[in-house]
Amino acid sequence: MSLSNRTIRWMQKHCDVSLAGKTVLITGGNSGVGFKTAETMLHLGAAVILACRDPARAAQAAARLTQDFPGGSVRTVPLDLADFASIDAFAANLPDVDVLINNAGVFHRPGQKTRDGFPLVMGTNYLGVYRLCEAVLPRLLACGHDVTLINTVSLVYKVARVDYARFYRDDGSYARSKLCLARYTAALVQRCAGTNVHVYMTHPGITITGIASHLFGRIYKIACWMPFNSTEKSSLSAAWLLAHPLPEGSIVGPNKLFGGWGYPRRNRVLRRARQGTAELVSFTEAEIRRAAAPASAVQKGRSA
Ligand SMILES: NC(=O)c1ccc[n+]([C@@H]2O[C@H](COP(=O)([O-])OP(=O)(O)OC[C@H]3O[C@@H](n4cnc5c(N)ncnc54)[C@H](OP(=O)(O)O)[C@@H]3O)[C@@H](O)[C@H]2O)c1
Repeated sequence: MSLSNRTIRWMQKHCDVSLAGKTVLITGGNSGVGFKTAETMLHLGAAVILACRDPARAAQAAARLTQDFPGGSVRTVPLDLADFASIDAFAANLPDVDVLINNAGVFHRPGQKTRDGFPLVMGTNYLGVYRLCEAVLPRLLACGHDVTLINTVSLVYKVARVDYARFYRDDGSYARSKLCLARYTAALVQRCAGTNVHVYMTHPGITITGIASHLFGRIYKIACWMPFNSTEKSSLSAAWLLAHPLPEGSIVGPNKLFGGWGYPRRNRVLRRARQGTAELVSFTEAEIRRAAAPASAVQKGRSA
């Protein structure tokens, strides 16, 4: 088992819940926070499904988890959040799940596009997750048992703005994508109120993962020596959330240094994460419809 003794002791004290008999699906579960979240879920007794874009990396991660948790159940399913067709295929074959953690995400990738022609960061972190939630929601609502849906945002949503004229600009796109995801999550909370689908957010604070290599660029090696949260500590948010009865729409993340560091607790959801949700949803629907339109129309609309 690769969780540290310290984490196991912390979980025994603060995450007093058994997930035996439950299935947890984690997007981007092959590395970083997602991989460590898979470990915490296995530790709590859940069966884990990793939804990943690269079959070889997915198989490698699953093999490591199976080795570390010999009695545990680990499966992989294909999912590329930067490709609507892949998301639709994923949703059509969605296994029965009790917890769906939308963890996968990318940071600053100027000039790169999704398969459907959207700038990669917005296209993956927001439009991809939006498409996935919309595609799986009917199945989740009809599954006949409680389902917890967790969207992974970031602290930086606190400094973002949504300006539809600059929606796809590279500068600030990561923070904007996470603010959009937080607002969409607020819309989902309203839509799912009183149903079997319970919607929350987590954020991992600041931790050195694949994303951080893009964040810190040339000073990445120095950043690796800085006292950020370990990936293990950052990945405890979902476990803590599942162990505590929280109001729907709550956000859970590290509790120190403005949410950048420490063990998870319930954080305050800023008003900006609940504003303009209806406008955002209709904008997003129009953008997704536009992706299905002829290529020339799509490019024209997106160059604004
Ligand atoms: N690290 C931080 O300080 C920090 C802070 C705030 C929020 N977050 C959020 O935490 C989440 C996890 O990030 P991380 O720090 O663990 O970074 P990471 O190590 O880079 O992991 C990101 C995961 O997302 C997957 N992914 C990327 N694009 C994908 C796509 N198109 N389809 C499917 N999967 C895709 C990656 O798969 P591959 O291995 O194939 O690339 C990887 O498994 C992200 O949502 C991120 O925005 C991280």
